[in-house]
Amino acid sequence: MSELYGKHARAYAEAIKDNDYNAEFERPTTLAMLDQALPDLRGKRVLDLGCGPGEYVAELLKRGAHVTAVDRSAEMVALVGKRFGPCPDLHCYAQDLSQGLPGEADEQYDLVLCPLMVHYLADQHPFFAECARVLKSQGQLLFSTHNPVADAALSPTGNYYAREALTDTWHTVGAPVEVVFYRRSLSEQISAVTDNGLVITQLQEGTASERLRQRNPEVYQRLTTQPNFLFVLAQRLG
Ligand SMILES: C[S@@+](CC[C@H](N)C(=O)[O-])C[C@H]1O[C@@H](n2cnc3c(N)ncnc32)[C@H](O)[C@@H]1O
Repeated sequence: MSELYGKHARAYAEAIKDNDYNAEFERPTTLAMLDQALPDLRGKRVLDLGCGPGEYVAELLKRGAHVTAVDRSAEMVALVGKRFGPCPDLHCYAQDLSQGLPGEADEQYDLVLCPLMVHYLADQHPFFAECARVLKSQGQLLFSTHNPVADAALSPTGNYYAREALTDTWHTVGAPVEVVFYRRSLSEQISAVTDNGLVITQLQEGTASERLRQRNPEVYQRLTTQPNFLFVLAQRLG
């Protein structure tokens, strides 16, 4: 696991509260898709996978959902516990999602939310099969990930169709931290979802906020002219 989400978990939590990529691009896009797909979350059961420090947990609780939040990082789970305290509508626990969801029964959730986690999985097929298993009939999955077109530029081999583990250096927390993630083609990304009992109902590439245009015109220009993330809404078949 990257130190970004372990050793640097607290600094990461602070950084993403109000940064350009998460707070002014990724979250506004995901939340707009969420509010359109499920405008009333009151009493709904939501599974937040790769919950990190809980920015989405806060949004889901605010909308009245019953939330189960899962992350591999014990540091992230501890931050969520500290932030929300004992809360009857929240259960948060540590689990490596490459090993599935052994703690979750079938057909429990109205929504599985998974922002910016699936690119850490070498094989996404078992993961999406698990998402389909725990969703109720017609339940929805909403996830975001790196845009395969953007990551293609980082390929060491130049083979767009190869799945490759990439090591990149990010400055999210100020100091440089190495992060390892997987890049894959768009068709592989889509098949991992549609081969596992889910049908894609919406695909977006993100909308940068007006606030970002004011605050950081350079990043706004980049995010409105170049691909960066991919946002996928899917529904369980049957
Ligand atoms: C980029 S952060 C996103 C956090 C949160 N979803 C958000 O958007 O604010 C990625 C999170 O995925 C978690 N993660 C990475 N690989 C994982 C795995 N195999 N199982 C569970 N969580 C994982 C990391 O610990 C980290 O908290």
